[in-house]
Amino acid sequence: MVKSTGYKIVKTAVFISGTGSNLKSLIRFSRTNQSPISIDLIVSSNPKAKGLKYGKIFKIRKEIFNFEKNQSENKILATFKRYNIEMIFLAGFMKILSKNFITKFKGKILNIHPSLLPKYKGLNTHQRALDNNEKYSGCTVHFVNSKLDSGKIILQKKVKISKNETKNSLAKKILAQEHKLYPKAILKVFNL
Ligand code: GRF
Repeated sequence: MVKSTGYKIVKTAVFISGTGSNLKSLIRFSRTNQSPISIDLIVSSNPKAKGLKYGKIFKIRKEIFNFEKNQSENKILATFKRYNIEMIFLAGFMKILSKNFITKFKGKILNIHPSLLPKYKGLNTHQRALDNNEKYSGCTVHFVNSKLDSGKIILQKKVKISKNETKNSLAKKILAQEHKLYPKAILKVFNL
């Protein structure tokens, strides 16, 4: 499919495990004229993920895979082939992909993380930032490599931590910024 701007639209999949608010913002972005991507598949590691509802709302195919099993990644690769998926966006995806899988998509898997990497890799980022009396936290979009939250940084957004900040209020503030940052990072990766 080619949009009026003339470039080829890259077919992508978004991987989720939970609420899917980043998925929703990515779908909205993908349907604007400036988007170089379409979202053709939603992959969830969790059959109960709330974000799966966006498959129905936006008419996007959904697949649920049990990432505990090795065959899951092979099944995903087969699905990707069938639908010509070339790129992956991780959005609140709670499983670790294998080295082999990541190597196959080198430079084509992006992730969003709710901290100013390299600070606070892994889980519970907001509480750890508060415990360390940080003045700022934020979010990062980065390429995925085989080390957790360690791939090349594409874009970051800083968020000020207020006096009476709680882990929930900080999460909310940062999430609102995540929704803007991910589309911007995609445009950057495509040099747009
Ligand atoms: C986001 O904060 C994301 O950075 C983190 O998990 C959260 C997912 O939120 N990895 P949602 O599922 O996109 O609403």
